[in-house]
Order: sequence, then structure tokens, then C-alpha cells
Amino acid sequence: MDRVVTEDIGAFYQHYPKVAVIVTAHAGGKDNAMAAAWHTSISLKPPLYGVAISPKRFTYQLITQSREFGVNFLPLAKAELLASVGGSKGSEIDKFHRFNIDRDKPLKTAVPILKAAYAAYECRLVDDRDYGDHRWLVGEIVAVHTLREVFTTEGTLDLEKVSPILYLGHERYLTTAKEVRYLDREVYGKQ
Ligand SMILES: Cc1cc2nc3c(=O)[nH]c(=O)nc-3n(C[C@H](O)[C@H](O)[C@H](O)COP(=O)(O)O)c2cc1C
Repeated sequence: MDRVVTEDIGAFYQHYPKVAVIVTAHAGGKDNAMAAAWHTSISLKPPLYGVAISPKRFTYQLITQSREFGVNFLPLAKAELLASVGGSKGSEIDKFHRFNIDRDKPLKTAVPILKAAYAAYECRLVDDRDYGDHRWLVGEIVAVHTLREVFTTEGTLDLEKVSPILYLGHERYLTTAKEVRYLDREVYGKQ
């Protein structure tokens, strides 16, 4: 095997695929949505969720005004919608109108929750930091929306019922395999 080592970092797509989501925001009477692949949980108590958003995004402006954002998880069947909101600017069009996006009511914030989402978080902004060409936004999750029938009783995604959107980079989308391996860390940690 020929392992290449380089200082030429490029766009470093090596850590993909990533779950792609739609981040939503509302401020000044406007709703907006954008695609995001750079996001993660950070803390359970308090429940914190982070997303890297370029300050060039219209969504970023709305989030700084309202100090709220939504994170929407969609099935692969909705990947076209994700590509649509990730390829257009809320400063130029009303994406909810143009792409016929159906909304569900938020519980604790004013962020739009997407009807097409199998799960969504409503977050209140607690931190906004500058990291290179993106901002690292941290939100406290104040409400969780879930489509109960696509989750197991343990609360994990039931892959027989839903296929999450994964993003490989360069406009390529896929989903996970259905095979799930149960490897108890307590057992494996003692081997
Ligand atoms: C699959 C995908 C993932 C993306 N991930 C991010 C991301 O994590 N952070 C970001 O700032 N932009 C990301 N983008 C780009 C924004 O979604 C895009 O610039 C969008 O047009 C911004 O819309 P807005 O200006 O209305 O906020 C992604 C785009 C796609 C298609």
C-alpha cells in the first residue's frame, strides 16, 4: 500500500462521509434554511450542539440577530431539498416559498422545523467564535422533535425505517448500510 504524506492539505475530504443536515433560522419576519455538514454534539449536560457556519451565509446573519437556530435531520429521499437550500442564498430568494418547504411548529424558539425531518433540534445560541473562514456556533438544545416510529425503543435510529443523508463531498450523497453490529464496550474494553 502506498501511503502518501503531504503538507498540501487541500479541502481535506478524508473525514467524510458526514451526516448532512438543514440548519434553519428566523429573524426580522424571515425564515431561512441552509445545508450543513460540519456539525456535532458537544455536551450532554447541558445539551450543547455545535455547527460551523461561514459568516457569508444569510443564515448566519439571522442566527446572530435571533440567537436561535434549528438543526433538521432528513432522509435520503429529501437530499434534493438539502441540495436546493445548500445551493441558493436566502439573501436573494425565499427558499421556503421557492422550494415548497413545509414547516412544523417550533416549541421553544421561532426557528422553522421542517415537516420532512425525522428529527430536529431547537437551539439557543450560547457561543459564536471565529475559526478561520467559519464561525463555530454553539447552541443549547431546548427542544427535540422526533418521528417516534423511526427510532428504536433505545432511542437509536431504526435503519430499517429511515435512511439518513450522508454527504461524501463534491455534491455526492449516500446513506448508511443497514447492517448494525452490537459491540458492548464493557466486554471489548476487558479483552
Ligand atoms: C452538502 C452541503 C453541506 C454544506 N455544509 C456547510 C457547512 O457546514 N457550513 C457552511 O457554512 N456552509 C455549508 N454549506 C454551504 C451552504 O449551505 C450554502 O452556502 C447556502 O447557500 C447558504 O445559504 P444562505 O446564504 O441562505 O444561508 C453546505 C452546502 C452543501 C450542499
